[in-house]
Amino acid sequence: MHRSNQSLRFAMSLAAVLAGLGAWTMTVHAQAPATPGQPTHQHTESDDHDVDDADGRQILTETDHDHVHDHGPASESSFGRLINWLGKLHPMAVHFPIALLIAAAVAELLGMFTGRLWFSEATVLMVWFATITAVSAALLGWIFGGFRWGDEDWLMTSHRWVGTVTAAWSLVVLALLVQGQRRKVAFSAYRAALFTGAALVGATGFLGGAMVWGLDHLAW
Ligand code: HEM
Repeated sequence: MHRSNQSLRFAMSLAAVLAGLGAWTMTVHAQAPATPGQPTHQHTESDDHDVDDADGRQILTETDHDHVHDHGPASESSFGRLINWLGKLHPMAVHFPIALLIAAAVAELLGMFTGRLWFSEATVLMVWFATITAVSAALLGWIFGGFRWGDEDWLMTSHRWVGTVTAAWSLVVLALLVQGQRRKVAFSAYRAALFTGAALVGATGFLGGAMVWGLDHLAW
């Protein structure tokens, strides 16, 4: 069987396994007790994130919610506890897709401008790992943030959906890469998708950081 065909099959199987795991955990959470097991991610107007210092910057206080313990529904069963614990890996996992997608885009740009093939070759591995880690990070994000359509805090809702689109988009980037290698689609389509993906993961990372550190966390 053609190698890129195998790659595409592998990517599709991975996506199917992750989607299945997601559906499974959704079922587990749907069965979780309403109290005290409700998802607890709440950022309201009175949230400590909105406390400003003298310069108008947002500051976090001791009474702020605990970012390690406050997320996800409580569960009595060992399996539920394991799933909740996995959700706590989200802040750790997000660094991989952010770094890999942006690095892949930079390497692809360098390849285009210098004409050196090895830059473009380097992006192949990075795009594979970026996709695997983006889908995993998004799945962990859903566990961490709770399974629902929207949140009280617009930042959380925006992060939730931009993050989900980013993970789905990384699968499109990978599919276009594989199809580009097989010369079934123009390589420029893959490049355009990769640069869009880098922008998307940057936006997702910004929104995630804004939830934890305040909207002006990148202020000069
Ligand atoms: C590729 C996709 C994603 C990326 C790159 C990403 C990135 C981030 C980043 C950078 C943070 C801040 C971490 C910190 O500073 O400690 C964060 C936090 C968070 N993310 Fe994501 N995220 C993604 C997807 C998602 C999704 C799909 C959800 C929910 C459905 C989600 C839920 C959360 C939650 C609940 C937090 C913690 C916020 C808090 O403690 O206030 N993330 N994410």
